[in-house]
Amino acid sequence: MKSLFQERIMERIPEPELMEEKEQVISYDKADFSEGEVNLINQINHYLLKKNISLGEKDLIVDLGCGPGNISEKLAIKWPNTQVVAIDGSKEMILRAENNKNISTNQNKLKNLRYICSDIKDIKSNNFLFKKEISLLVSNSLIHHITKLEDFFNTIRSLSSNITVNFHKDLKRPLDEKSALELKAQCLTKYNEILANDYYASLRASYTLKELKNFTLENDLSSLDVFEEADKYLIVYGNV
Ligand SMILES: C[S@@+](CC[C@H](N)C(=O)[O-])C[C@H]1O[C@@H](n2cnc3c(N)ncnc32)[C@H](O)[C@@H]1O
Repeated sequence: MKSLFQERIMERIPEPELMEEKEQVISYDKADFSEGEVNLINQINHYLLKKNISLGEKDLIVDLGCGPGNISEKLAIKWPNTQVVAIDGSKEMILRAENNKNISTNQNKLKNLRYICSDIKDIKSNNFLFKKEISLLVSNSLIHHITKLEDFFNTIRSLSSNITVNFHKDLKRPLDEKSALELKAQCLTKYNEILANDYYASLRASYTLKELKNFTLENDLSSLDVFEEADKYLIVYGNV
């Protein structure tokens, strides 16, 4: 028989929005998440192909909560003729991202990429940032950082036009504390303790499928698809 502890559904415990601690930023930057990142780019490509969209010179891609730029660089390389703007509110992360771009062996393929340090909640009013409509609006592992879901969805609503394809991927909150601790233990076999602690905090801060879905249905955002992937992730996809 399961104990009460095991059966208790995990409540959401928010974590700080910005990743600003140097140690935390260094650990995140040094970790190799490339497998998941390549999958994400392939997934986005798959969804664009399904919509018959091929991105070129006229297109702008925006990566929200870009961190050290792992996804941003891959977007810039995959769609070299587009402009890519990547945004993070943490100065420490943006410094890392700029540095990674400068030391990249693909530097000549990253001329279309620029970084901006800003809270995503402020960019809706900063219309000087974007000279054209956004064709692809992306985020990875951002939503769980945002304390209030309305802040995330208001941002993507205000940045989107009818040509904007949204693709946002994040962790799904595990059902209970035991599952979260198991995932943390798995993380420790690959990464250091700082990263495993951050991952555990992120799992507890993540939303559930029901929370994201209900939010979209109750806030006139039902044109967005919200679905689970591989039991661990949530995806928000479509036009706003
Ligand atoms: C877990 S990292 C993900 C980084 C990157 N997207 C990736 O997949 O490697 C989340 C990032 O979102 C940023 N972030 C969180 N809340 C934000 C906000 N309100 N505005 C801007 N950036 C934010 C954090 O500073 C952090 O760099």
